[in-house]
Amino acid sequence: MPTSCVIGLLWGDEGKGKIIDLFAAEADWVVRYAGGHNAGHTLVRDGERLVLHLVPSAILRPGVRNVIGNGVVVDPFHLRSEVLGLRERGVDVQLGQNLLVSEAAHVILPVHKALDAMAEERRGAAKIGTTGRGIGPAYADRASRCGVRVGDLLRPESLDASLQRLKSEKDALLEAWGGDPIDADALRRDLLEVGEFLAPAIADTGHLLREAHRSGARVLCEGAQGVLLDVDHGTYPFVTSSSASTGGVAGGTGLPPTALTQVRGVVKAYATRVGSGPFPTELRCDVAHRLREAGREYGSTTGRPRRVGWFDAVAVRYSAQLAGATEVVLTNLDVLSGFRPLQVCVAYDLGGDPERRSENFPAFELDRVRPVFREFQGFDGDLSSVREYSDLPAAARAYVEGLEELIGVPIRTVSVGPGRDQVIAR
Ligand code: IMP
Repeated sequence: MPTSCVIGLLWGDEGKGKIIDLFAAEADWVVRYAGGHNAGHTLVRDGERLVLHLVPSAILRPGVRNVIGNGVVVDPFHLRSEVLGLRERGVDVQLGQNLLVSEAAHVILPVHKALDAMAEERRGAAKIGTTGRGIGPAYADRASRCGVRVGDLLRPESLDASLQRLKSEKDALLEAWGGDPIDADALRRDLLEVGEFLAPAIADTGHLLREAHRSGARVLCEGAQGVLLDVDHGTYPFVTSSSASTGGVAGGTGLPPTALTQVRGVVKAYATRVGSGPFPTELRCDVAHRLREAGREYGSTTGRPRRVGWFDAVAVRYSAQLAGATEVVLTNLDVLSGFRPLQVCVAYDLGGDPERRSENFPAFELDRVRPVFREFQGFDGDLSSVREYSDLPAAARAYVEGLEELIGVPIRTVSVGPGRDQVIAR
């Protein structure tokens, strides 16, 4: 049985939540391996919209074990309210049964959130546009070896030692930046209390996942953010702070790297980005406004309007290759209905110079490339009820097939709406 991954091929918001929920029908375990509650994965259940931030996207699937892996940074207070919020809406979340959290995952503390805000303010015009949830500072402390881990919440002595280490590293910085020192006693009390709530879910999930894998269980790894937000391979420094690409799967779950045999790359039929950073195919005219409204392109975590642009085949080919995508899921095709003609970026003129045309994705000066577009005719009509590929308008099929050729990976699934059933298998 394959261990698979569903991953976003651009800067997040590709519609992964719905796709993971869909493919979770074939999974026994669904595991988040990177990111934190900066993610916003949207599911639609009986017409009702459910946004998940930390809880994996198979929580609506009875029998699936959802795991928050060790590579995720966990705000335990947020997790508690997300669990309670889901229960209030009738979702059966059973800690230790259908939701597990790695004891080795690092904890996002209030100090991380404060430092995230201070760092952004200090960056001024060069700000990254983070979600403000403390993600970067928590990963930085993990790397600096002064972090607190979820397992500490169950071990008062270990927690004390971790908090003292953190305090001795962070108080000087907080003072220099005009913040308050860490109140270790209050924090200790709050963490032990939330730890009590989460205790049934906290486990050695790496061990459980390896056992499951060895016994032939089907494990689906849930990507958060997208390949171009990966700290190593994304548009640095305008990235998140984790290994969001499939490279993060082994490190962030405890599964062996050889486990992963199937990678589904998810990408919208156009492009979006939230936060700062280069975006070669970005639209700024009236079309941008129409596309944003048609696709309801507002951040599910922060509510910020997303930047929108044409499909960028150079970027998607790069991320599909990097992530090892074995197939592509194309989402939001229905949104493009009525936009005529459609443009697709097929190459970049580096430095804006046609003499330096390239089909490769550069690590530097992406903000200075000029996209080279190929025009597609575009299509009209409501696609949201189409379920057979052959029932799509011919121009929509030509668009899908054109993208597939440019990406170099088969598009096996096309999504035409937010509902679980609004998909076309090819
Ligand atoms: P951080 O992850 O909060 O540090 O934010 C770093 C960058 O990643 C910012 O540009 C965010 O807008 C972006 N980002 C983080 N998480 C997501 C996501 O789930 N979807 C889209 N963008 C994200």
